[in-house]
Amino acid sequence: MKFSRILGTGGHLPARVVTNADLESIVDTTAAWISERTGIEKRHLVSEGETCCDLAEAASRKALEAAGIQASELDLIVVATTTPDQVFPSTACLLQQRLDVHGCPAFDLQAVCTGFVYAMDVADKYIRAGVAKHALVVGSETISRILDWNDRTTCVLFGDGAGAVVLGAADEPGIVSSHIHADGAYKDLLQVPGGHGNGRPDLAFLEMKGNEVFRFAVTTLGRIVEETLEANGLTKADIDWLIPHQANIRIIQATARKLDLPMERVIVTVGEHGNTSSASIPLAFDQAVRDGRIQRGETLLMEAFGGGFTWGSVLIRY
Ligand code: COA
Repeated sequence: MKFSRILGTGGHLPARVVTNADLESIVDTTAAWISERTGIEKRHLVSEGETCCDLAEAASRKALEAAGIQASELDLIVVATTTPDQVFPSTACLLQQRLDVHGCPAFDLQAVCTGFVYAMDVADKYIRAGVAKHALVVGSETISRILDWNDRTTCVLFGDGAGAVVLGAADEPGIVSSHIHADGAYKDLLQVPGGHGNGRPDLAFLEMKGNEVFRFAVTTLGRIVEETLEANGLTKADIDWLIPHQANIRIIQATARKLDLPMERVIVTVGEHGNTSSASIPLAFDQAVRDGRIQRGETLLMEAFGGGFTWGSVLIRY
């Protein structure tokens, strides 16, 4: 068995919903500005005491149920997160304890908004190498906790949530290919400059040069789409569904145009979820699987861009 395929998906959003209108009373903004510039109408945010692991656990249990396997059958747990509950143990170890799994490797992976794509790349390689038969891959974020709620240029953009997939070893792909990249030269454009590690926990909030990030994201995502098609000898017409990272509807539309894909073939959740960082792709994927849009046998392209900069794609025959 040389490949990994998707056995099941799951997603979970915190119950608290914050609309654009709600944000008008927090920062100097308007509901119309947020909606017009980003496509975001509302987002789900964690409540006091609700953790990244709570979200990850709920999404994972749904993915396991959909996959039809027991947690005890997992040989690998990878959690992509930018907002782990603790410095250590990793959120993956906390999740492993909740799922009553013992002994299999469990680790967090940090590639910000590209985290889920990175985690899929890693888990796929474990399965292809024959080291794991079943892998749980999660993107989970409580990004609202690292936002500066006085900064209108960032706090209106993000939301919390978690998505998960269970991968299983198979004779056919599955994951056809994955492509991941990074360039730390752009570290200052999108960052959380402080934390306990550098002795500046007072600076542990997200900063972004939105305009520059926007331009770079559009160009880079166009290129990663081309790289993925070329690597597999495919044409644009071979893609049934685009499942993009959900940062801004204008970035998503630009990538869809590059693929000549009508927006009906693009899974869009940014309006309801905002940017949930590493959770955005698995949440969107799960929604479209559960509402019946994505069908077995179809070809899916996931793509993401995030702080670092990091970027990447996963091509899947579902
Ligand atoms: N409400 C009202 N006005 C706001 C605002 C808000 N929430 N945030 C910024 N503005 C203002 C700015 O201060 C600026 O005012 P000025 O012209 O008087 O200086 C004006 O709106 C335009 O700002 P600008 O940054 O040029 O807007 P934009 O069209 O580039 O949209 C983003 C801003 C953040 C929505 C956009 O740049 C973006 O989506 N960037 C990429 C973000 C992203 O994807 N990040 C994550 C990657 S994973």
